[in-house]
Amino acid sequence: MTTIRAPSTDAVALAVQRLRAGELVGFPTETVYGLGADAANAQAVVKLFAIKGRPANHPVIVHLASTADLDRWARRIPPAARLLIEKFTPGPLTLILPKSVHVPDVVTGGQGKVGLRFPSHKLAQRLLREFGGGIAAPSANRFGRVSPTTAQHVADEFGDELPLILDGGPCDVGIESTIIDFTRGAAVLLRPGGVSTTQLAEVLGYAPLPQTARSPRVSGGLPSHYAPKTETQLVKPFAIAQAYRTAARAGRRVGVLARSAVRFDDFKGVWRQAGPEWSSYARVLYAELRLLDAAGMDLILVEEPPAAVDWLAVNDRLTRATHREQR
Ligand code: TXA
Ligand code: MG
Repeated sequence: MTTIRAPSTDAVALAVQRLRAGELVGFPTETVYGLGADAANAQAVVKLFAIKGRPANHPVIVHLASTADLDRWARRIPPAARLLIEKFTPGPLTLILPKSVHVPDVVTGGQGKVGLRFPSHKLAQRLLREFGGGIAAPSANRFGRVSPTTAQHVADEFGDELPLILDGGPCDVGIESTIIDFTRGAAVLLRPGGVSTTQLAEVLGYAPLPQTARSPRVSGGLPSHYAPKTETQLVKPFAIAQAYRTAARAGRRVGVLARSAVRFDDFKGVWRQAGPEWSSYARVLYAELRLLDAAGMDLILVEEPPAAVDWLAVNDRLTRATHREQR
């Protein structure tokens, strides 16, 4: 049976006990819920990969309570990385740094670099402090699927396979952390996320460089990821009504995730509204995709957000959620 536990001293103590015993625990962060394991316990991390269905060569992020732990997990930390840490952590930012010797290979997918993150969610911090070590955690969804932003989403993903989930309420940011690689000279953006590239550029003095083919593996970097099971299409605001009518004529049930578009009179389906700003949109995006996916539709139409730089992380997720070739 899965137990979802509200925050309490007992619940945190139980989670710590499970982690120390090499078991997995679902827990909230400000971005999305994580599926946690003791990062120093290779066998526990292997369990993570198994339950998630993730290929072994994909690394997982290590979550830490305090930046004082930084030098125990990473080495040769460049000043620019320390600057970002000072400015944006705790918060939705992950740094890729050369790993220190004791980080198990399974955590880094066999690479010499480790991803470190300092979540700002109070319950995550409490868990990390009480646990006293690093918690390796991918997003708590099955590989390739939509990330969870509530404890119930996590329970929906894993059922009985995950006995304990700490409930910290709905996630505030709603999409994953920004990942910056500091192992190749200039800062490289591996995944846009909760900290915008504009914010990063203000501190770095330049916009983080785009990823190249030689960049390390980022599973969120696969063309099809964050994907609902239902066919999902991105549609320009002005084209929604027509796309709907074409599908409806073919007898298809249609769900719409709108941002600026207004529901039209002949629409018979599930109409959801998100936005209008990138941050308010990101906060509800995954929950809305899950809701539409569970509504028994044949087609989900997502109104394309603006192509503006602020919307980079949201557009990245939507492009992957609607990519179909490799499904
Ligand atoms: O917001 C987040 O980052 C959430 C919460 C739970 O912290 N976590 C998350 O984890 O999104 P995950 O595993 O779903 O995505 C992390 C991405 C993966 O694509 C992984 O390949 C990449 O980070 N990553 C982790 N460690 C890495 C490393 N050492 N080098 C390169 N990429 C790494
Ligand atoms: Mg993920």
